[in-house]
Amino acid sequence: DLLDVCGYIDPESPVVQLGSNFTAVCVLTEKCMDYLHVTADHIFWKTNHVTVPLEQYTVINSTASSVTFPDFSLLNTQLTCNIRTFGIDQNVYGISIVSGLPPEKPKNLSCIVNEGKRMTCRWDPGRETYLETNFTLKSEWPTDKFPDCKTKRGSPPACTVEYLPVYFVNMEVWVEAQNALGEVESEHINFDPVNIVKPAPPHNLSVSNSEELSSILKLTWVNSSIDKFIGLKYDIQYRARGTAAWSQIPLEDTASTRYSFTVQDLRPFTEYVFRVRCMKEDGQGFWSDWSEEARGTTYEDRPSKAPSFWYKVEPSPAHGYRSVRLLWKTLPPFEANGKILDYTVALTRWKSHSQNYTVNDTKLTVNLTNDRYKAALTARNLVGTSDAAVLTIPASDFPGRCP
Ligand SMILES: *[C@@H]1O[C@H](CO)[C@@H](O)[C@H](O)[C@H]1NC(C)=O
Ligand SMILES: *[C@@H]1O[C@H](CO)[C@@H](O)[C@H](O)[C@H]1NC(C)=O
Ligand SMILES: *[C@@H]1O[C@H](CO)[C@@H](O)[C@H](O)[C@H]1NC(C)=O
Ligand SMILES: *[C@@H]1O[C@H](CO)[C@@H](O)[C@H](O)[C@H]1NC(C)=O
Ligand SMILES: *[C@@H]1O[C@H](CO)[C@@H](O)[C@H](O)[C@H]1NC(C)=O
Ligand SMILES: *[C@@H]1O[C@H](CO)[C@@H](O)[C@H](O)[C@H]1NC(C)=O
Ligand SMILES: *[C@@H]1O[C@H](CO)[C@@H](O)[C@H](O)[C@H]1NC(C)=O
Ligand SMILES: *[C@@H]1O[C@H](CO)[C@@H](O)[C@H](O)[C@H]1NC(C)=O
Repeated sequence: DLLDVCGYIDPESPVVQLGSNFTAVCVLTEKCMDYLHVTADHIFWKTNHVTVPLEQYTVINSTASSVTFPDFSLLNTQLTCNIRTFGIDQNVYGISIVSGLPPEKPKNLSCIVNEGKRMTCRWDPGRETYLETNFTLKSEWPTDKFPDCKTKRGSPPACTVEYLPVYFVNMEVWVEAQNALGEVESEHINFDPVNIVKPAPPHNLSVSNSEELSSILKLTWVNSSIDKFIGLKYDIQYRARGTAAWSQIPLEDTASTRYSFTVQDLRPFTEYVFRVRCMKEDGQGFWSDWSEEARGTTYEDRPSKAPSFWYKVEPSPAHGYRSVRLLWKTLPPFEANGKILDYTVALTRWKSHSQNYTVNDTKLTVNLTNDRYKAALTARNLVGTSDAAVLTIPASDFPGRCP
């Protein structure tokens, strides 16, 4: 109980600037000195339980002793005033020293307006202060201002204010930094919010194909509301399904406000994925995020090639006949240009009529005479028929050939 009132340290809860000289004084009470038979000469100091060298002490008068720390460099320090009496070290009083640096002038302040939602400003806060440092973003324009925006403790150096659509004004923005050791404000920046806008992305992107042209897809999207104020330009990218790299529509093709675009030179019967983003027409501000992706498939075109085609002759037990097996490969998708419905083989016997066989399979076995034949193969899809692959099956000298 006695020691509780034996003395005190001044200052009580200091915040010390790193690198400065710091002095604390311990003052003993008369009552305590009388009772314990001690004076300020008996005082010794400890930081974080380590005794401070005597050279740093100054006895001011009979009741008070000070300690000085030149070029203070300790973080989170417990400083205690102690006396030694009856051979026992007694703690008189203790304080916590908080140390750090005043804030530096915030640099590089920049802002972005997210259309219809918020304005976010960022800055470089400068060196570490080791102290709770509050930043306040201030913004105003000639007729009004946004509420002050304070950063949360420990959050990145940025602040976001709800943003009503205020465009075509001179907005002035700055940031104030404050901690226990000082207060400083950044340079003020001025801008028209319309020139730092990041529009909302185009939405409801949809894709439609054309039965007339298998090489095009038409994209349409919905106006972002900011196009009431400013002209927009667009960036359209697409890729065939299953490919990783995006192709780019030349930016000069979409350099003004629009709600649709026809992409050309696409492959038939191919699924494509599209995305669109937009920004202010004159290039000021920021690209929007990408729209949601939308998919569409070009219309079918007639197969661009005939299948590769060959045959095998197998002897037939019947005299004068042979069994001919015609075989072909399925067309790869980029040549089929659609769903192949069937194949037609036209077999023409030398100097005779031709006969057609239509099959869904990729092979056909026919029973032919030993004469020479011409076989023509075509593939068909919804739109049309491929050119023919032609092969000649020579006459056979198989014994027993019919004249
Ligand atoms: C700290 O004290 C030393 C010696 O007493 C003096 O030379 C120096 O200028 C002081 N530093 C500051 C920052 O006051
Ligand atoms: C001794 O010094 C301390 C601190 O400067 C002061 O508060 C106190 O009144 C002084 N005591 C006497 C007896 O002069
Ligand atoms: C400001 O930011 C720009 C880009 O982020 C950077 O290149 C530049 O070094 C920064 N300047 C300062 C003084 O921090
Ligand atoms: C920082 O802001 C908080 C909350 O507004 C406040 O309690 C605290 O005193 C401020 N600190 C400084 C150093 O201004
Ligand atoms: C956009 O899509 C949403 C959801 O799909 C729908 O509710 C809305 O009506 C569409 N807007 C327009 C203008 O088509
Ligand atoms: C988009 O805006 C243009 C011009 O303001 C208008 O003609 C068009 O109908 C709008 N389209 C949609 C889908 O809102
Ligand atoms: C081939 O298949 C399609 C659909 O699967 C069918 O409509 C058509 O009749 C078939 N053709 C032949 C020759 O079997
Ligand atoms: C081929 O056709 C002939 C005449 O119709 C017939 O006699 C013969 O058996 C057939 N051969 C086969 C393998 O079908």
